[in-house]
Amino acid sequence: MGEPLKICLAASEVAPFAKTGGLADVAGALPKALLALGHRVVVIMPRYQMVDVERHRLRRLGVTIDVPIAERIEQAELLEGALDGGVPIYFIEKPSYYDRPALYGTPEGDYPDNAERFIFFSRGVVEAIKALGLNPDVLHCNDWQTGLTPVYLKTVYGEDPALAGVATVFSVHNLGYQGLFWHLDMPLTGLGWEIYTIDGIEFYDKINFLKGGLMFADVLNTVSETYAKEIQTEEFGHRLDGVLRRRSADLFGIVNGIDYGVWNPAGDPHLAATYSPEDLSGKAVCKQALQREMGLPEKATVPLVGIVSRLAAQKGLDLVVEAMERLMALGLQLAILGSGEAVYHEALSEVAERYPKQLGLALAFDEGLAHRIEAGADMFLMPSRYEPCGLNQLYSLKYGTIPIVRATGGLQDTIVNYSAARDTGTGFKFRSYSERAMVQALQRACEAYADQRAWRRLMERAMAQDFSWDASARAYEALYRRAVVQAAAGR
Ligand code: ADP
Ligand code: GLC
Repeated sequence: MGEPLKICLAASEVAPFAKTGGLADVAGALPKALLALGHRVVVIMPRYQMVDVERHRLRRLGVTIDVPIAERIEQAELLEGALDGGVPIYFIEKPSYYDRPALYGTPEGDYPDNAERFIFFSRGVVEAIKALGLNPDVLHCNDWQTGLTPVYLKTVYGEDPALAGVATVFSVHNLGYQGLFWHLDMPLTGLGWEIYTIDGIEFYDKINFLKGGLMFADVLNTVSETYAKEIQTEEFGHRLDGVLRRRSADLFGIVNGIDYGVWNPAGDPHLAATYSPEDLSGKAVCKQALQREMGLPEKATVPLVGIVSRLAAQKGLDLVVEAMERLMALGLQLAILGSGEAVYHEALSEVAERYPKQLGLALAFDEGLAHRIEAGADMFLMPSRYEPCGLNQLYSLKYGTIPIVRATGGLQDTIVNYSAARDTGTGFKFRSYSERAMVQALQRACEAYADQRAWRRLMERAMAQDFSWDASARAYEALYRRAVVQAAAGR
């Protein structure tokens, strides 16, 4: 399959060090899969407060980087750790930017200096590559927090011999978050005003970090084939569809894999009992334990529906809130774990008070509980407005917890609609973004659940699905090689 590649992946969150969503899972797992294919991989991320130096046994390297910000030079220190399996990961430590309780902000809003924090990170990645002498073939950037990195490589560092030949891949995990800032932040970037144009990073009178990645990286991808198509349309394009259409020859869709080392009911340390397709008895134990933990009546036969989600408009929680009365009328139980925007915290708290016997709510970010919901629930609901890939439906499949999803993005690509007549499918899909369509899908699921033998076969099919990283990592390898060729041709 060709020479091994030297790959550097930069991301603003990487599991298990710091996480708010699926990007962290991907950035923690893909490098391991690339290593397994024989490549040399390193990862770079910020050292946030929640990155525990002791627990992860991080080492201070005694290496510092100098990063120009406006007219100043800001210094940061580099720490080194490793992902399980040995991929080196470097942390950029700059307490004034990252030593805070959260990664990006609080339920009330983003940190006001996010532009500066991620300008620093985007440029810090380039400086770290130089300081560590990494000399990668490919620099793989992810989402808006690293959007300016490809811009720096092609402009300020364009003639730097230490970076000559570095190809860039930019992955869009979510087009809804673009890193938009007012134009007066431009001087912080150290980029010239000639970059602040429609062919650069200007976007409706603002700076758009994500657009930087889209315009300057050699190759682009997103995290499912359907989403790669959707984002080129006005409906899903978040006003960047024109840019994406122009780059459509360089834009690919690669579905995320999942890390079965972390998400596997047969060996999950967070669960009351483990289980496997051969012996599902532990799942009933998990269900009862979850009902207890969420303050719900411990009934074995009532369908228990789980939700684990960032609480943001993307995730369709407004449908769940609106439809609550009709959902409750189906006689099911709902276990919701979420954190995010204050409006959803309030709306969910309010309905939870009305239905204490059917709705268990935890407003927190809780890794262990996320696993226990995957294991203890019978079904898992994802009514997303849009979903670039989605990982929870894939975890659900592995845990025999049947996904009920809106047919969009990666949800469309990874779940096959159930047919009782043909005894096929792995979940329940609905198309229109409406309360009615969602409730109907849940109703179908509850009816299917009542036939325990058919349900058992559905669970077995779900659990037999394979979304391991291997195939997707090979697709990334092909993408990296393409980027190398394109970067060489561009010079
Ligand atoms: P997104 O990245 O858009 O949030 P994904 O489905 O790709 O959606 O990934 C979400 C990841 O974050 C999953 O691993 C999920 O378990 C986790 N997660 C989301 N919200 C919470 C929460 N409140 N507590 C614990 N884990 C959460
Ligand atoms: C994003 C998307 C989600 C995707 C994840 C990892 O946050 O919302 O659909 O699974 O990134 O790629």
